[in-house]
Amino acid sequence: MYLKLFVMSEDLLIKGVNIQKTFFSGNVKTEVIRGIEIEIKKEDYVVIFGPSGAGKTTLLHIIAGLLSPTKGKVLWKGEDIYSMSEERRSLWRRENIGFIFQFFHLLPDLTLEENVLIAGWKKWGKKEAKRRAEELLEKLGLKRIAHRYPSQVSGGEKQRTAIARALINEPSLILADEPTGNVDSVTGKEIRGLLEKLREEKGTALVVATHREDWKESGGKIFFLEDGKIIKRKK
Ligand SMILES: Nc1ncnc2c1ncn2[C@@H]1O[C@H](COP(=O)(O)OP(=O)(O)OP(=O)(O)O)[C@@H](O)[C@H]1O
Ligand SMILES: [Mg+2]
Repeated sequence: MYLKLFVMSEDLLIKGVNIQKTFFSGNVKTEVIRGIEIEIKKEDYVVIFGPSGAGKTTLLHIIAGLLSPTKGKVLWKGEDIYSMSEERRSLWRRENIGFIFQFFHLLPDLTLEENVLIAGWKKWGKKEAKRRAEELLEKLGLKRIAHRYPSQVSGGEKQRTAIARALINEPSLILADEPTGNVDSVTGKEIRGLLEKLREEKGTALVVATHREDWKESGGKIFFLEDGKIIKRKK
């Protein structure tokens, strides 16, 4: 029994306990997340569905340590990430989390390759970060255009660059916010395939938040975000 409990807790990366988030703008109060319990284990593959405004970005940012919840806790291997100092939380994020932002957040004055390698500087040093960036960009089919700036490439290419950047530090958890939200359905399918392949190769846990129905065909566990709560039901 003890052994089993031990093994289970070793496998648990994220535990969200009664996560709540309320935004205030002026006198208007919006309760976006209303008591979410979620567990993400090693190598898990989770797809969270929800319509626009459901709170997907808010929830992923809270799990990533980017936005503190109004109430509740986010535990990483049992440790409350919002009790860490900001500096430690940033370090923790860099070591463990690969975040793919809904709107990419690529730096416009850097080339695609520089956008990727700069994220890996602190962990790998400049030379090794460059090697890894080149390898990732090649894997994602971007080698030929790695020297271009974000304004000179398509949405799908920006999306793949954002994926490469999220992967360079070999995170144990990838949080992908609408990773196919800004591309056509064919490119979307390609990107889904890439994320699934990368996850399998490295044994990385993957959490995707999306409103796109085609993710229902994926092999992930499907959750729905509705009324600020997570509901598990059939597809
Ligand atoms: N900083 C903020 N201040 C006030 N309200 C906010 C803030 N951020 C988000 N909201 C509100 O919270 C709700 C959830 O927003 P969120 O961005 O998490 O939704 P989403 O599910 O990611 O939507 P989309 O699919 O359009 O990206 C929305 O009603 C939004 O207007
Ligand atoms: Mg969003």
